[in-house]
Formats: sequence, structure tokens, C-alpha cells
Amino acid sequence: MKRIAVLASGQGTNLEAILEAVERDEISGRVVLVLSDREKAAALERARRRGIEALYLDPRPYRERAAYDRALLEPLQRSRCELVVLAGFMRLLSPVLLEAFPNRVMNIHPALLPSFPGTAGVEEALAYGVKVSGCTVHFVDGGLDTGPVILQEAVPVLQDDTVELLRGRIQAAEHRLYPRAIELYCRDQLRVKGRRCLIETG
Ligand code: GAR
Repeated sequence: MKRIAVLASGQGTNLEAILEAVERDEISGRVVLVLSDREKAAALERARRRGIEALYLDPRPYRERAAYDRALLEPLQRSRCELVVLAGFMRLLSPVLLEAFPNRVMNIHPALLPSFPGTAGVEEALAYGVKVSGCTVHFVDGGLDTGPVILQEAVPVLQDDTVELLRGRIQAAEHRLYPRAIELYCRDQLRVKGRRCLIETG
């Protein structure tokens, strides 16, 4: 059973999908810690409801990103997690954290990377006028949404879509995709070779 930590800033619907997949035994691991940079993040409440340790770490006292990440590192290491899952964690991670968990930090992004990285993936895809968008699970490297792609799912952009409608459809895909990617990790089926993440079968 792999020990998993989840970092989340917001609603935590991806966290919820992961926790439900764990409960259905679709993930050979368990979530041992949820961390947030927002005190009121619904993600914290979702974890507490299940008796999972949920910590808020206020970023304001830390002037540099690396200092905040060092503070995050302490509970992460104490939790003895093997995998760090970013689920709507709206901060860039510094090398301090990434070097402690090489190829062991995953992120989900609401677009088909490398298109529309950053914090407005849904809005920018709609404004650009693409016919297909989707979501991407990738390992995190030092760049902005640039690490090796693990899984992607395409989602059509419809004629009368709004940001809310498209976001809803993409999030439904995220809730399928993220648990699958995490399970591949837990089953030791992911191999990173340069930019590519290969999935070993059988
Ligand atoms: C998700 O849609 C995720 O793809 C996005 O934030 C949302 C969090 O929702 N992440 C990013 O845009 C990262 N650049 P949730 O809190 O309900 O899981």
C-alpha cells in the first residue's frame, strides 16, 4: 500500500474522486495527509470528515517560495508518503520540494498540455476557439506544467459552451483520469525516460 499525500487549494473535487477510488479499492494506496495553503479550502474538510490528517499551512509568513516549501516538507516527510499528488494546488513548487520527491510529484491540469498551461487553462482554451480540450496528468518538474505526461483525456468543446460548462465536463474527465494515473504509480507501472513517461503493462 503506497502512502499518498495530497496538496489542494480549493474545492477538492479531485481529492474526493481519489478518496472514493481508494474506498472502492481502485487505488492500491491510501491518502495519509492533505495539506492546503488556504485555510478555508473545502479539501481540508473532505479529508477531516474521513479522519485523514488535514493541515493548513499559511504561506504569508514565508517571503520566498523555497522557505514555504521547506515548511511543507516537514509534514510530508513525517507522513512517510511516497507520492505527492497536487489536486488544484495553485502554487509553483520550488526545487526544495521536487528534489525531495524526484518523479514522485503529480499534477492534474485542465487542458491538453502543452496547450494552455497556467492557472486559466479552461478559459484560454475556450477563448482560443479549440474544438477539443481535455485534461492532463503529468509529473511535476521545475517548469510551469511542463513535466512528463502520464495520461490525457480529450473533451470536446461544444458550440454553446461557457467556461462553467466546459470546466464541468473537463472536471468529470479529471475525476476518472487522476485515480487511474495514481493507480499506475501505485502498481509501479510508470517509467520516466527523458520527456516520456512509459506505461508498463503485464
Ligand atoms: C482542477 O480542475 C485542476 O485541473 C485545476 O484546478 C481544479 C481544482 O479543482 N488545476 C489547475 O488549473 C492547475 N494549473 P478541485 O479543487 O475541485 O479538485
